[in-house]
Amino acid sequence: MKVTVVGAGAVGASCAEYIAIKNFASEVVIVDIKENYAEGKAMDLMQTASLNGFDTKITGSTNDYSKTAGSAIAVITSGIPRKPGMTREELIGINAGIVKSVSENIIKHSPDAIIIVVSNPMDTMTYLAHQATGLPKNRIIGMGGALDSARFKYRLSEALGAPASDVDGMVIGGHSDTGMIPLTSLATRNSVPVSEFLSEEKLEEVAKATMVGGATLTGMLGTSAWYAPGAAVSAMVQAIACDTKKIFPCSTLLDGEYGLSDLCIGVPVVLGKDGIEKIVEIPLNDAEKAKLAESAAAVKKTNGLLNA
Ligand code: 2OP
Repeated sequence: MKVTVVGAGAVGASCAEYIAIKNFASEVVIVDIKENYAEGKAMDLMQTASLNGFDTKITGSTNDYSKTAGSAIAVITSGIPRKPGMTREELIGINAGIVKSVSENIIKHSPDAIIIVVSNPMDTMTYLAHQATGLPKNRIIGMGGALDSARFKYRLSEALGAPASDVDGMVIGGHSDTGMIPLTSLATRNSVPVSEFLSEEKLEEVAKATMVGGATLTGMLGTSAWYAPGAAVSAMVQAIACDTKKIFPCSTLLDGEYGLSDLCIGVPVVLGKDGIEKIVEIPLNDAEKAKLAESAAAVKKTNGLLNA
């Protein structure tokens, strides 16, 4: 199983590293436009193979997509990241052109690839990848909800004083500071609703901290985060590569599901060898439904900038 990761920046490299450490792919090809950069990251990572005990072969390429030929899965992380104080939406001008040409190049050399989009504004970039490639909806997946849910579980575990492995929770909606919807009503600590342990005010605080999870780190690091984004993409790649049928909230093209159409936004999906194998419609309460409609309207507004 060959996986391509486009973009050798921090998120791309961290994604390649986690894929290799989990040892399920035979090959990872990293592509970057900066001369020798992907090759350097690949060599550095390969020098960890004997230490970390993996057999995945990692190679790099300076913008030569012929090296990616035959990839089963391709991850797009290219584009510029946020600087402190910036919204993800502000990146659209530069990143749209990049994501369009990268997705076209991927499909030219790997016509059967499943594409995972990470570049921001992610829901709009996922929609753009659909427009650019015309691929069926199961083969283009946006990475946002898997990361936002991991951040939600981190905040819940902090509030509960429990390990994150004891906590379950999901974030749906747009991958933006105002569009995320942490589903506190469904979150549990080892099957017990978290509302049994935390007050409504505390849960509201957890939800708010989750929504600005990326912005908080951008403020602390001076650029956007990479470990959790890389781990979230690699978990999705593994679910597809190993056909696990795990549920992740992912940005997917909706066609009437949740009463929404003609946009990509985060909802729970089953990931397996065919990419998005099923969109799972979970019952939402009225407040959650209203938030999803509002989040969808904001994503559509950003999508409108694509042709502006
Ligand atoms: C984040 O850190 C990369 O958008 C991403 O939230």
